[in-house]
Amino acid sequence: MSLPFHECDVLIIGAGGAGLRAAIAVAETNPKLSIGVVSKVYPMRSHTVSAEGGAAAVIKDDDSLEHHAYDTISGGDWMSDQDAVELFVKEAPKEMIRLEHWGCPWSREDNGKVAVRPFGGMKNKRTWFAADKTGFHMLHTLFQTSLKYSSVFRFDEYFVTDLIVEEGRCQGALALEIATGTIHAIKAKSVVICTGGAGKVFPFTTNAAIKTGDGMALAYRAGVPLKDMEFVQYHPTGLPFTGILITEAARAEGGHLLNKDGYRYLQDYDLGKPEPKPVLRSMELGPRDRLSQAFVKEQESGRTLQGPYGDFVHLDVRHLGAKTINNKIPFVRELCLKYENIDPVKEMIPVRPVVHYMMGGIDTDIEGATSLPGLFAAGECACVSINGANRLGSNSLTELLVFGSRAGRSAATFSTRQDTFSTGIGSLFEKENSKFLSKYSADNNGSESIAEIRNEMHSTMEEGAGIYRTEASLKKSMDAVKSLKVRFENVKISDSSKTFNTEVTSALELSCLLDVAETVIQSALHRAESRGSHQRTDFPERNDKDFLSHSLAYKKEDNVPEIKYKPVIITKWPPGERVYGRETKQS
Ligand code: FUM
Repeated sequence: MSLPFHECDVLIIGAGGAGLRAAIAVAETNPKLSIGVVSKVYPMRSHTVSAEGGAAAVIKDDDSLEHHAYDTISGGDWMSDQDAVELFVKEAPKEMIRLEHWGCPWSREDNGKVAVRPFGGMKNKRTWFAADKTGFHMLHTLFQTSLKYSSVFRFDEYFVTDLIVEEGRCQGALALEIATGTIHAIKAKSVVICTGGAGKVFPFTTNAAIKTGDGMALAYRAGVPLKDMEFVQYHPTGLPFTGILITEAARAEGGHLLNKDGYRYLQDYDLGKPEPKPVLRSMELGPRDRLSQAFVKEQESGRTLQGPYGDFVHLDVRHLGAKTINNKIPFVRELCLKYENIDPVKEMIPVRPVVHYMMGGIDTDIEGATSLPGLFAAGECACVSINGANRLGSNSLTELLVFGSRAGRSAATFSTRQDTFSTGIGSLFEKENSKFLSKYSADNNGSESIAEIRNEMHSTMEEGAGIYRTEASLKKSMDAVKSLKVRFENVKISDSSKTFNTEVTSALELSCLLDVAETVIQSALHRAESRGSHQRTDFPERNDKDFLSHSLAYKKEDNVPEIKYKPVIITKWPPGERVYGRETKQS
């Protein structure tokens, strides 16, 4: 029987928006290169599919690249690298038009031009959308386009367990074929990680169950630092039971957030005053970090409502009327009917903040390159960094196009320069197989339950590293995660099946989550200031003197991550006050 060994010039891990965009970029850059795309799910099940509200790019005459850059940088509380942002806003419109040419059905105005809507923290309307199923249409477009290229071949439902690092560079990956339980070695001349975020570190998230930080953990274990992991975004409007996202588009269309007294409480949080129509960068169109923090303050003051799944406030879209709701935010209505049994045309929607996005991720430069030669990353798993301490809604779909494409081109160039594949995979392959036999099989004699470890991780992350943190809360969470990691070494696998053994994949995911959790806590502990989504009640002010720097979390065997720093790149916009709902000289 031949060994399950494969070769491709570029291997892309992850088949969501960033992964597929990278694959297309490789194919376009050098048609001679063979491209492997490996994903633990079928491409159309990747989390990009669930993105709702839209993708930002300057297209209208009253907007400008400067405005897009400034909104992104001030929204990120000056933690974004400004060279990356400048490049991002410049390439964004081209990528969006390219997607249009590939068939993405962007919503239009009556005159046939591309329609845009406002999103939180924006000076101008610049969010392109396909009703409120933007991610679905974008992913479909990318997937169909990728099918045009015979040089792309896929490993669907393969779970990557390790990177192959030899001679100081990344030379492929080892992967578990979920259908058979077989380990495969996929040799490659370069690798691009595009595996999305890690919202499942927290209990309550808009993220799909698959978002378990696998790619972040792979890079981290291979010695690449994770950057800015303390910045975790809570989206202000998730459904209380499921965490399902109620898109910001509902507020862009004019939805109001009301506390238990029916009062638009955001007017008390320096976010402007109520107006009959949505006002840009104001009230419900403020940035996500501020809105989520305002919810906590309302909660602490006893002005939220109590339900079986925790406290909530109301999102009221009734005044928009059935026609607007059906045309502009039909998915909101569908989700509310299906998951809350309420009709937003007639009833208010219960919402609360919910973990949505990791601003941090694998440290890359603007070409998508990491510190490990041959390894690239793009999309939510990466931190380039354009999102800083708080991402603006609708920048991430565009980010995965711009930086997916750049990382794909860089990987193609890197692979074109390599002559041969690695020859020494055999011993790594043997080691991985024996690890699976001893640790991830029903013969492992383990006694610790996956579900219990995961639940305890969730509780400690929410309690200690949530919207507000302190040194004491973070230290407590770190102790808890450390002991969970010890317990994980004795994890129990009871299912002996080789076929679609989801207990094994859950264990693999949990090991990634625990590594990522540790980097979130340790980075948050070291950042003794408050900035964007990272709010330390023991250090309530932003401190540019000491912390205008990116944190870099390095893996240390048998120890907590080591944190180092590197400066934020400032090009044109020196740190200033973040102002919403009122004018300043700078804004
Ligand atoms: O609310 C939303 O539709 C989310 C968009 C985003 O995170 O970019």
